[in-house]
Amino acid sequence: MIEFINKIPKAELHLHIEGTLEPKLMFELAKRNNIKLEYKSIEEIKEAYNFTNLQSFLDIYYSGAKVLITEQDFYDLTFEYLLRCKENSIIHTEIFFDPQTHTSRNIEFKTIINGITNALEDGKNELGISSKLIMCFLRHLSQEDAFKTLEQASKFKEKIIGIGLDSSEIGNPPSKFKEVYEEAKRLGFMLVAHAGEEGSYKFIIDALDILKVNRIDHGVQAFYNNELMQRLKEEQIALTVCPLSNTKLKVFENMKQHTIKQMLDFGLNVTVNSDDPAYFGGYLNDNFHAIYKNLDLSKEDIITLVKNSFNSSFISKELKKEYL
Ligand code: HPA
Ligand code: ZN
Repeated sequence: MIEFINKIPKAELHLHIEGTLEPKLMFELAKRNNIKLEYKSIEEIKEAYNFTNLQSFLDIYYSGAKVLITEQDFYDLTFEYLLRCKENSIIHTEIFFDPQTHTSRNIEFKTIINGITNALEDGKNELGISSKLIMCFLRHLSQEDAFKTLEQASKFKEKIIGIGLDSSEIGNPPSKFKEVYEEAKRLGFMLVAHAGEEGSYKFIIDALDILKVNRIDHGVQAFYNNELMQRLKEEQIALTVCPLSNTKLKVFENMKQHTIKQMLDFGLNVTVNSDDPAYFGGYLNDNFHAIYKNLDLSKEDIITLVKNSFNSSFISKELKKEYL
């Protein structure tokens, strides 16, 4: 089964490109850009990755991203992830990026997006991996800041398929971003949002009803509300679940407690994803291995999870047919 999991062609729908920054590349970029890291060695970095909740991770994740300065840095980061895709038999990936993490450090929007999209182009041509790019707003910042970011993105509209919402969930409800999501929808972007990761299941309902999202990122808190479970099943709304992320950030105490198998058995449209693999100890295949070993998944379950990802992706109907 492990061999089957490793080889089956997969899609990934929840992946933060800044979360693929491996300690080794972090050191190389720090050196290249003359930036002083708080850590002396790769081992020391890995020891710091001992998270207690989402915020404890975000503090370290934003700090790590400071080594990304030039277009080449964003290119190298992205191309390294695409090489990992190849190893994991990922043939299609939908990547989040957080422009505000960089523009707040005076990195130009075009530097970020050109570096990432040049690598995606090469990934398509050299590795045969198709991709889409989703721009996330940081929810701990204001809606006004999100509007500015949407404005900066307008010049690069053809490179960005959709809009997402990430960072600190508790205290930053979907309703805070109602108008900017309305504007993004009007401009033709697809819409997703992190909801119900460690925040209330009510944020999932609000992301659907107020932000009108096409997919929910995480969404695991839905398990604790029957009415919402029923709705997600009826409407077949995709949930991009990230098992290793959830255990590393203590959303579940351990993998045996994870509810993904129960949600799948209930008939929900769940998918498996790696979120921030350089920080959470594993890429997509590792996430599949972890749930397979701990939750008694069958071969059919694996196939359903993989098909759900292709079906819920933002690729054309024609390409979906080709992939499925
Ligand atoms: N949740 C919220 N924000 C994030 C995450 C996440 O899992 N990963 C990167 N930014
Ligand atoms: Zn995420």
